[in-house]
Amino acid sequence: MPAITPELLTRFDVPGPRYTSYPTADRFVEAFGEPDYLRALAQRRSGRGPLATPLSLYVHVPFCESLCYYCACNKIITRHHDRAAPYLRCLGREVDLHVRHLGAGQAVSQLHLGGGTPTFLDDDELAELMAMLRRGFSLVPGGEYSIEVDPRTVDADRLATLARLGFNRLSFGVQDFDPLVQKAVHRVQPAEQVFALVEAARRIGFESINVDLIYGLPLQTPESFDRTLAQVARLRPDRIALYAYAHLPEASSRSGASSPSSCPAPAARWRCWRGRWRRSRRPATSTSAWTTSRCPATPWPWPSGRAGCTATFRATAPSPTAT
Ligand SMILES: C[S@@+](CC[C@H](N)C(=O)[O-])C[C@H]1O[C@@H](n2cnc3c(N)ncnc32)[C@H](O)[C@@H]1O
Ligand code: SF4
Repeated sequence: MPAITPELLTRFDVPGPRYTSYPTADRFVEAFGEPDYLRALAQRRSGRGPLATPLSLYVHVPFCESLCYYCACNKIITRHHDRAAPYLRCLGREVDLHVRHLGAGQAVSQLHLGGGTPTFLDDDELAELMAMLRRGFSLVPGGEYSIEVDPRTVDADRLATLARLGFNRLSFGVQDFDPLVQKAVHRVQPAEQVFALVEAARRIGFESINVDLIYGLPLQTPESFDRTLAQVARLRPDRIALYAYAHLPEASSRSGASSPSSCPAPAARWRCWRGRWRRSRRPATSTSAWTTSRCPATPWPWPSGRAGCTATFRATAPSPTAT
């Protein structure tokens, strides 16, 4: 994979969706209606050509117990865990509908549970969800079965349960390790907690560990983010998803709290993201996926040609230099 160069940055410096699903949300158009979808399902059922390849499933669990002020995800903030039951019932109907058109037992080689916070569901509910999917689909051996984990919602025992349920990849929402930044965005999770969880995940045998980071958050500076990156380097994740903070007040009632005035200025944002990766001794630091995430509504000017990029790094070689 190529090293990150200014040319590579420029090439991918175009607006695009933040999330990593395929097709991404901005590809969903009204013009693609029910008959089109039914036709696609029928083709898949007949298993011709490329449609014979295994499916990838994404399940969105929208609930979170508390709001992170920067959050632009599709989520419902609630402490009422009884909301999970009707949600699972609806999900079950959705699975049944698909199975009716696809036939039972279609092969699935990738599953991702995202959110919101999938670990909002308790162990029994997660087991029910996985059983529901297994009734309708066949999760093939050796597939990639991942789940997003908010570190505040799990302990080592829960991670072991996730492994027993069949997950083999974890994605931890880290965002930033700086206590002041964490306080400003209303997401306080001590670094020690994340380190302990990652260690437990390795012991349990998860095959791949991802961490999500965001640059451009309030109170972040290039220096503070550099310290976060040094800690992340010590964590040795297999993969890092580095997001540019997208200021979307309409997606979060409190993202006004992440007001532009408390966020790093554009030039500092750029240095935040660039600093450690450029100084890394690791030429193999690379992009395996790359989208930009500039919010057209971002109320402060972005450096020209340096809009918010989301880079996904796969650690294929020694991790970036820890200082
Ligand atoms: C679907 S979210 C959910 C992850 C999980 N709920 C958690 O917080 O740990 C996935 C990632 O999107 C990123 N994200 C959320 N809001 C964002 C924003 N406004 N700008 C950039 N990245 C954002 C965060 O890094 C987050 O971990
Ligand atoms: S970042 Fe994650 S935990 Fe925080 S509000 Fe968004 S989806 Fe929920």
